[in-house]
Amino acid sequence: MKILVTGGAGFIGSHVVDAYIAAGHEVAVLDDFSTGSEVNVNREAEVLRLDVRNKDGVAAAIAALRPEVVNHHAAQSEVPKSVADPGFDAMVNIVGGLNVLRASVDAGVRKFIFISSGGALYGEPDVIPADEDHPARPLSPYGTSKLSFEQYLGTFHRTYGLEYSVLRYANIYGPRQDFHAEEGRAIAIFASRMVAGKPVTIDGDGEQARDMLHVADVAVANITALDRGAGGTFHISSGIPVTINELFRKLALLTDYKLEPRFGPARKGDVYRIALDNTRARRDLGWEPNVTLEEGLTQTVAYFRQQVLSTR
Ligand SMILES: NC(=O)c1ccc[n+]([C@@H]2O[C@H](COP(=O)([O-])OP(=O)(O)OC[C@H]3O[C@@H](n4cnc5c(N)ncnc54)[C@H](O)[C@@H]3O)[C@@H](O)[C@H]2O)c1
Repeated sequence: MKILVTGGAGFIGSHVVDAYIAAGHEVAVLDDFSTGSEVNVNREAEVLRLDVRNKDGVAAAIAALRPEVVNHHAAQSEVPKSVADPGFDAMVNIVGGLNVLRASVDAGVRKFIFISSGGALYGEPDVIPADEDHPARPLSPYGTSKLSFEQYLGTFHRTYGLEYSVLRYANIYGPRQDFHAEEGRAIAIFASRMVAGKPVTIDGDGEQARDMLHVADVAVANITALDRGAGGTFHISSGIPVTINELFRKLALLTDYKLEPRFGPARKGDVYRIALDNTRARRDLGWEPNVTLEEGLTQTVAYFRQQVLSTR
């Protein structure tokens, strides 16, 4: 089938594009390359270099392409940026997203897959792992913009009959992750610094826990969502909390890193402990995570080792 992946030049979107193409689909990527990169983009994908805020450009591109499915990964995806400039975050994640959504309805798109964030919606969860019905109380404008867009999907379904699924990701890691970005990328930052023998700083006491999922498992979830899970919201997650100190220790072993971590101040507004229940995705999408943390970390270290060697 013909699929449009917005944000297909980014870390996660590019893996989804690769998986769709490997499964025999015809894929186009819509991206402004603001954080994405050309080297990430699969050579077999058509590229539409566009900002989602460009309403007329997006409408014309989607009308000309007429995809069967639109998979919307493009976003302002950094929590600190959303705190510094909530208006910009909303312009990209809400207004830009609506440009893509409206154009999809006009072009007769069969299904819209929206990428939301489980980590940014619930605040400090009441239970762990939290399921999709846990009350939403985002701590950042980024979480609020993701939640708002989920609401618009319901509206577009009721008004225009547009079929959709929402995938709420946990903390995703793996090859191509940007280790320069400051937010939520502990594995990429630690691995890239350890292979280069550089000091590593842990924010807070390191006992804060996250739900870490390898990007290859995320790509598979996006394949299952092409035909399943209509109208549903799903956690794409491991369901297991892992502390930053545990990640540090596992990565230090894999990289033969001997330095002790430095401990910095805890980041304001950070959730302390979270994991996301993935029972619904297992049941309705027939999806489950397959990459163990050990395998995923080993692969990620190999990637960053190669990156560091190639920049020397
Ligand atoms: N990385 C995670 O752990 C995580 C967790 C939960 C949700 N998500 C979501 O997954 C999606 C992908 O995130 P990622 O980590 O791969 O980030 P990323 O920054 O690598 O990818 C985002 C992509 O969107 C593109 N983009 C940004 N603004 C755009 C605009 N105005 N117009 C067109 N394209 C634009 C970027 O160039 C980039 O290619 C985002 O929607 C993000 O919110 C990520």
